[in-house]
Amino acid sequence: MTIKDCKIIDLPKIADPRGNLTFVEGGRHVPFEIKRVFYLYDVPGGADRGGHALKTCHQFLIAMSGSFDVILKDGRDEQRIHLNRSYCGLMLQPMIWREMDNFSSGSVCLALASEPYDDRGYIRDYDEFLKAAGITSADSVVAPKT
Ligand code: TYD
Repeated sequence: MTIKDCKIIDLPKIADPRGNLTFVEGGRHVPFEIKRVFYLYDVPGGADRGGHALKTCHQFLIAMSGSFDVILKDGRDEQRIHLNRSYCGLMLQPMIWREMDNFSSGSVCLALASEPYDDRGYIRDYDEFLKAAGITSADSVVAPKT
């Protein structure tokens, strides 16, 4: 997996003067069956979330309200993606290191996941992630955020 496999996916938007509506169907708008939904909210200014990779779980992140950044790392490349629309989301592949920061006040991050929560599926140490991804220090051009 590389960060290029993590793409922004546009979702349907039913525009209506009464308020817009967006929906997500597992297997249709996101390429996995949705087994879990969780959300981040009341994130204090300056806080960082994430800081891990998932071994097999696929996730899809949507900025339901406000905005935040997702930093993706595959050990060779790094990309910062700003999410600020409720009608598109970021597909996160397994074995991609992700960090989140720059949360705007009142922002809400919705995450759809392909697996139920299991702490054993996490890699929380960046060196361990590089090792598991088969990245040698010669390949690795990106230092973890400290
Ligand atoms: P975690 O995914 O580690 O968040 P972050 O990487 O942003 O710090 O989750 C924080 C805590 O919440 C951790 O103790 C596990 C728990 N948790 C669940 O119990 N179920 C879930 O679906 C998620 C995402 C987290």
